[in-house]
Amino acid sequence: MKTKLSVNINKIATLRNARGGNYPNVVEFAQLAQDYGADGITIHPRPDERHIRYTDAYALRPVVTTEFNIEGNPIPKFVDLVLSVKPEQVTLVPDDPNQLTSDHGWDTVKYRDFLKEVIKEFKQNNIRTSIFVDPDLKMVEGAVATGTDRIELYTESYASEFAKGNKKEVEKFASAAKLAHQLGLGINAGHDLNLQNIAYFKQQVPYLDEVSIGHALVVESLIYGMENVIGMYQRKLSGKA
Ligand code: PXP
Repeated sequence: MKTKLSVNINKIATLRNARGGNYPNVVEFAQLAQDYGADGITIHPRPDERHIRYTDAYALRPVVTTEFNIEGNPIPKFVDLVLSVKPEQVTLVPDDPNQLTSDHGWDTVKYRDFLKEVIKEFKQNNIRTSIFVDPDLKMVEGAVATGTDRIELYTESYASEFAKGNKKEVEKFASAAKLAHQLGLGINAGHDLNLQNIAYFKQQVPYLDEVSIGHALVVESLIYGMENVIGMYQRKLSGKA
């Protein structure tokens, strides 16, 4: 089964914001990512708009011809944005406004009624829903009761254990994916996935519909692109190109 790659472009916005102008341009980057084979574009606007902005979501909508995934905590401002931009998918994440990055999944039992309500509204608007969860069977079961189409497994623990040489952590994710599939949910995954750990994850975790990758993909693009770009500068400086 093919697993889609959704490229999270928040880091491109972070670079842009560092200089105050519109370079790099997130819309152009979304276009490039799709030209180079991305199956989707993900953004995660936060209330303080410290990287991707709410206005970026509108600018990206006509350009994202693959699958547009908007992630975030469903506060009223976020719900309004998603309902008006109408991405193909919304991923609900329980992040605090000041959190550096997402660091836990939903307690799908405690927040069942809240999630049920927002999910219903998104689904009525033909937006596929996914909720961010830890690889915990209880949370997967709880997700079913919210009416969500998919879950996104929070992969930080897999990535950090894999980096230490402990491959066993993946078993939790495989069990969660099997249960989710059995209960009729689609399965996404994300956070700290990279070129080192993605193949093993894909091998071990069945029914994986989509991964969303941002931080490492941008760093790896620098690593694998830098040789080319430095060569281009050197050729310009030597008058050869
Ligand atoms: N999924 C969610 C819910 C996230 O918040 C993030 C980071 O914004 C990702 C996936 C992507 O994680 P990374 O940037 O580490 O690839």
